[in-house]
Amino acid sequence: MDKKIIVAGIGPGAEKYITPAALEKIRSAKFLVGGRRALETFATSAQVTCPVTKDIDAALNFIREKISIGQVVVMVSGDPGYYSMLDVLRKNFDAALIEVIPSISSIQLAFAKVAMSWYDATLLSFHGRRPTDDKLKFEPNKVLGLLTDAEFNSATISKILINLGWAGSSRLIICARLSYADEKIISTTLADAVNAEPVKHCVLIVTENTSH
Ligand SMILES: C[S@@+](CC[C@H](N)C(=O)[O-])C[C@H]1O[C@@H](n2cnc3c(N)ncnc32)[C@H](O)[C@@H]1O
Repeated sequence: MDKKIIVAGIGPGAEKYITPAALEKIRSAKFLVGGRRALETFATSAQVTCPVTKDIDAALNFIREKISIGQVVVMVSGDPGYYSMLDVLRKNFDAALIEVIPSISSIQLAFAKVAMSWYDATLLSFHGRRPTDDKLKFEPNKVLGLLTDAEFNSATISKILINLGWAGSSRLIICARLSYADEKIISTTLADAVNAEPVKHCVLIVTENTSH
């Protein structure tokens, strides 16, 4: 069966991090779905587009309607397999209809920026959700890699972690606007971050090791 829905990861944001495979699918798409940021970067006036907003049903309806005509390319940030619209698509469409093009996750780029491996890190998301205390609690040698949102940001998450046994002196690396010209990598501590200006959509790396 022809794959009708192509879920293409666009990487952390800047065009230089997208894979040629994803770019090829996006460029040749007649029907293109994606967040406003992705559409601004990649859509052309020749394409029929649908922005993904909080109204996910609108995007799903667009996809349902257009796959009867041809392929629909859905752009997601980072890697589709790491907290993306892929989960919603799998609940609403047959897996045989879906092709996934992987890409670089914001988590991968964050760990790369501080020259750290992530294979042994505990990777969790606060983006529209709250991981359980059991997964977040302090354990010796634990390294956390966290996605954030506006509510669960660098300040609120630092407070949560201190309440779960992490020392205030634990290293917190805030990775914001990864891959963009205004990218910011801030190395601080959990205690300092609680009272500092919160950084909202970013990746947080937390480690008891203070050498970073
Ligand atoms: C819905 S999740 C999508 C994650 C994505 N699938 C990935 O692999 O990176 C959105 C969150 O990813 C993180 N994120 C995505 N792009 C980012 C970037 N360029 N810089 C920092 N964090 C980013 C932020 O925590 C943001 O709130």
